[in-house]
Amino acid sequence: MRTNRFFLLTSILVFVLAIVLFACGGGDDDDDDNDDAAAPTWENFAQGFFADYCTRCHSSELAGVDRVGAPPGVDFDTYDGAVADAADARERAGVGESMPPDATKPTQAERDRLTAWVDADTPEN
Ligand code: HEC
Repeated sequence: MRTNRFFLLTSILVFVLAIVLFACGGGDDDDDDNDDAAAPTWENFAQGFFADYCTRCHSSELAGVDRVGAPPGVDFDTYDGAVADAADARERAGVGESMPPDATKPTQAERDRLTAWVDADTPEN
């Protein structure tokens, strides 16, 4: 009798564990990792990069003192704007590190990806 109860409890435990494992594994999806591994495009990388590190100052939406000194017309909030200044962006924020000038710096891996995007002729998608 005690043995039967032990097996019953063990079976229930195994069943519950199986459900928990299934629930955790089933929803797992690696899309973000896949994006990181893909060749950089405007859509999967550059737009977000510029939004994170550049458009606080370099945006066509900003004028005057709001640009914090960023030269007028050097803007990275649109694809066309970013393409127009891509070579300079590569020099200042890809292989070089003078941009952004303040504390919020990209990682070296992000700088390498920016360089790769420009070297691949700035694909949009
Ligand atoms: C805090 C404001 C600010 C941020 C953020 C910023 N910049 Fe700048 N940027 C400036 C200022 C000020 C200058 C002008 C002074 C200089 O050239 O160093 C400038 C100049 C530049 C120039 C030279 C433009 C020219 O024609 O002379 C480029 C290219 C540039 N930035 C790219 C970037 C990129 C790419 C990022 C993001 C990784 C970025 N900047 C982030 C303020 C900023």
